[in-house]
Amino acid sequence: MTTTVRELPVPPFDLPLICRQTGIRHVEYHETLESTNRLAVSLLKPLLEVAPALVLTANQTAGRGRGSNQWWSTAGALTFSIVLDAESMDLPVERRAMISLLTGLAVRNAVAPLVPNRTTAIKWPNDVLVGEQKICGILAEQHNAGDRCGVIIGIGVNVNNSLSPAPMEVRQRAASVFDLTGQHQDLTAVLIAIVAELTSLKQRLSRSPAAVLSEANAASILNGRELVLQTGDRQHAGTCRGIDEDGALVLETAAGTIQRFSGGSVVTWQAER
Ligand code: BTN
Repeated sequence: MTTTVRELPVPPFDLPLICRQTGIRHVEYHETLESTNRLAVSLLKPLLEVAPALVLTANQTAGRGRGSNQWWSTAGALTFSIVLDAESMDLPVERRAMISLLTGLAVRNAVAPLVPNRTTAIKWPNDVLVGEQKICGILAEQHNAGDRCGVIIGIGVNVNNSLSPAPMEVRQRAASVFDLTGQHQDLTAVLIAIVAELTSLKQRLSRSPAAVLSEANAASILNGRELVLQTGDRQHAGTCRGIDEDGALVLETAAGTIQRFSGGSVVTWQAER
């Protein structure tokens, strides 16, 4: 007679270590999930009871991107959502665009040491680039649950996955740490570094907002470049004059007027000069 031993899947993450080192109070871990943001929205009420909480998966199969976009990923990518109580964020509603920006900066700071000798940058409102290729996408959402308001920050970082099986349009503009360096990373350590960096940036934002803003502007790939911004069905062409204290993009049009945009997508931007 043969005995089959069914091994329980071992998460590629050290969940207790994540909690100990980040202040995360609860991790909702699933080996496979369609979308960490979608699960965070559906469990928002109980997750707010244990916020800051994390929804984490090793295999996200139907990730959501901004607008109607999808987020392509395979095993080895870091895909998770942080659930925060909006009350605890110490950010007035009109400055909540800063959340995406701060998250982008946190990911950029955490990823930069993994890709030495390469330029890392943030691309307003919420992408992280290595060179001009996207390595991380961020989807920040706000939802009510009963009388509380939750902020869900969904983060997808291409770490140990390869973009080679991705559809052509994804492959052309995205990169992964593994594809760039040929090295695998400890996903727990990368996740901890991102959350710790985000916590530190949030604290610094309330103490010295100007310093954080100038760090974001220094890391912004768009500053000084000509670009086209899409808002709804309108397009706005101009030169990027930076990111302001509310997290809005400042654009100088050809006519010399200055306009601020709190949302939108940059559809084209001038290549590196
Ligand atoms: C974008 O660039 O359009 C945003 C992509 C955000 C992807 C992340 S992966 C983890 C989290 N769960 C999702 O379904 N989406 C976000």
